[in-house]
Amino acid sequence: MNEVTTIDHPLVTHKLTLMRMEDTPPKDFRELVKELATLMAYEVTRSFPLKDIEIQTPICKTTKQVLADKDVVIVPILRAGLGMVEGFTHVIPNAKIGHIGLFRDPETLEAVEYYRKLPTDIAEREAIITDPMLATGVSSVHTIDILKAAGCKNIKLVVILASPEGIKAVQAKHPEVPIYCACIDEGLNDHSYIVPGLGDAGDRLFGTK
Ligand code: URA
Repeated sequence: MNEVTTIDHPLVTHKLTLMRMEDTPPKDFRELVKELATLMAYEVTRSFPLKDIEIQTPICKTTKQVLADKDVVIVPILRAGLGMVEGFTHVIPNAKIGHIGLFRDPETLEAVEYYRKLPTDIAEREAIITDPMLATGVSSVHTIDILKAAGCKNIKLVVILASPEGIKAVQAKHPEVPIYCACIDEGLNDHSYIVPGLGDAGDRLFGTK
């Protein structure tokens, strides 16, 4: 079953509370998403392997560790997932970035793909999917389907807020994909918004409301 990691560091919780406030303007919201993603990236990359190298300090020669080469692709789900990319590239500057655009068909409630651009070597990379909101789980499940079909074997899902329903949906279809979030909220309302949540993450990031 999916490992769910709630990154409830005080700095993360503080920034998340500011994001939730309806008076927080898009400029501040964007900044908070970026900062929060950077903080979350520390935990998401905790399992990255190290390798020994020999170095010379001003005092002596010694063997110490640096990151072993690890090829990463960050995959934001458009459009709100874009807000988290800079936070991750700040910490993993050599990561490639793939994009998946999805909208939800209002009739069938299924995810409909309208955009896909992925690196050609994606099958060899560890994929980190970013989306601030794991609500129904439809977009996350569909994105994981796409990445698996492209050959990805190592996939992580990073969201800011998760609903119990969304976690359950990902667990049902992709039980081996670890989920990272800053908080698991109470649940979904009748419009599939997370409660208490923070509203529409895309609108709040891009000022489209
Ligand atoms: N997407 C959002 O942006 N907000 C929610 O609460 C749920 C899905």
